Amino acid sequence: MEPDSSLPTEQSDAGMLRGFWYPALLSATVSRGKMRQAMLLGTPLVIGRDAQGRPFALRDSCPHRGMPLSYGCLEDHFLECSYHGWRFDVHSGQCREIPSWVTGDKLKVDRIYAVHFPAEDQDGYIWVYMPDSEKRDEPVPPAPRLPVFSSQYRLTHLSADLPVSVDHGIIGLMDPAHGPFVHQAWWWRTRHSIQQKEKTFEPIPNGFRIQAHKPSANSAAYKLLGVYGQPITTTIEFVLPNMRFEQIHCGDNWFSSRATVTPITASQCRIDFCAAWNVFRRVPFMVSIFRIFARMFIGQDQRTMQKQSEGLKYNPHLMLIDDADRPAKWYFQLKQAYLEAKRTGQPMRHPIPGPITLRWRS
Ligand code: FES
Ligand SMILES: [Fe+2]
Repeated sequence: MEPDSSLPTEQSDAGMLRGFWYPALLSATVSRGKMRQAMLLGTPLVIGRDAQGRPFALRDSCPHRGMPLSYGCLEDHFLECSYHGWRFDVHSGQCREIPSWVTGDKLKVDRIYAVHFPAEDQDGYIWVYMPDSEKRDEPVPPAPRLPVFSSQYRLTHLSADLPVSVDHGIIGLMDPAHGPFVHQAWWWRTRHSIQQKEKTFEPIPNGFRIQAHKPSANSAAYKLLGVYGQPITTTIEFVLPNMRFEQIHCGDNWFSSRATVTPITASQCRIDFCAAWNVFRRVPFMVSIFRIFARMFIGQDQRTMQKQSEGLKYNPHLMLIDDADRPAKWYFQLKQAYLEAKRTGQPMRHPIPGPITLRWRS
């Protein structure tokens, strides 16, 4: 277990990957005919809904003189800049009117664009696609979806701002060794409950998966679903750029969650946690109860990263150790492989050759 490679220093784009969808705002916080500001990957955005409720996202900057478009006003699917009244189609960014122009040269107006981003509602978020380039013809994959396994289920969302780079947010999310120290509670577990763990990981496109396993006796799933008396299996996946999926199945009962760590700026990120389940349908207040515990867990991670950011200010030398930090190493290798594939146009070379068993104590 020798201490290994120090953490890669930040890349030019501060580790933020483009060519992916990111959750920008909760869908419910943007009403029809309204706009809100948001920030993704250091890019200021204005996000809104047209008169039909369809979401849109534009760079929050008028191409004329940089006035934030969010100060403008929205009418049907046109946004009028508050400075000189240029009007833009919110779904394409195309300029449709320049009030000061005498000639009325429609053709020239149509060649002006505000920077526009694909936007979509999915799982209760407005997702925004952050392209590789500002070319308007980049093919856009479908927005991510939380897997669900029945028609009836509960869904809830939680989020927390983290004052660290997206890389620290993500490796904190996949780090198995902090549990007994950060997530302590007398009824849950203490540092004295540390035991050896062994899990098999396998490569999947753009990420890796912990093979379906029986949860350990001190895990959340075991404690909660043990009441059903059926075999429980858990699957955990990480997928670039920033998603951790966890699924628990117990007979027809299921629980599915996704944690997404989204880069806001180079030194800030946000965790968005979204969970769906069909278990305990008959238990009253289940959503509220679940939220109390989930909020507590996320709060523990958030306070830890707030403290960590105090240490990171002075650019310390850092390390990743085997096997507990191996998933973090894979994350950096996956990012490198993704960027390399983009640079060369070759298929991505997956850094994990095949199933591999990791051991650690937690
Ligand atoms: S700055 Fe927007 S119209 Fe001039
Ligand atoms: Fe945690």
